[in-house]
Amino acid sequence: IDISSHDKHIVFIGFMGAGKTTIGQLVAKKLHRDFIDIDHEIERIHQMPVSAIFQELGEASFRKMERELIVALCSETRSKILSLGGGAYMQEEVRKACLANCIVFFIDVSWDSWKERIPLLIDTRPILQNKTLDQIEELFLSRQSTYAMSHYTISSSDMDAETAANQIVESLK
Ligand code: S3P
Repeated sequence: IDISSHDKHIVFIGFMGAGKTTIGQLVAKKLHRDFIDIDHEIERIHQMPVSAIFQELGEASFRKMERELIVALCSETRSKILSLGGGAYMQEEVRKACLANCIVFFIDVSWDSWKERIPLLIDTRPILQNKTLDQIEELFLSRQSTYAMSHYTISSSDMDAETAANQIVESLK
């Protein structure tokens, strides 16, 4: 990566529960940059949990909120670390804004290690509700090729968040 890339935003994408926020916070601390978790920021702005936004306003409204927020943050000059919700990158406008203005890291996790985390995620992730395990796996697999449209892939299955964060910081040097 050339020197100018140091001024770009750094974006973490990947499936829910892959470790984007944990790794992103560590990287932000190491690089002394501001960290924004898009889901938390939407909850703060709209004063509603993501699950309630899905339930009361519908998924399309949520997707518009996340798209507009990400596009706006990408155009800010002060470089930041952003952790995107797992579905955000499926939107073309989000991908375009991120690829043009940011260094995009895909936090990749294998299906086998990810499925162990379902109990921790099920209550707060509306997208997982009322789905069979097969349907969740199908969603997981269907998103992989879009996440792969990133600059770097970090496999989080076989390393802890600290190791992943160090590897990311190294790759930026
Ligand atoms: C979603 C992932 C969630 C959140 C929303 C929808 C998705 O974010 O944005 O529940 O479609 O994969 P995390 O990836 O932070 O869990």
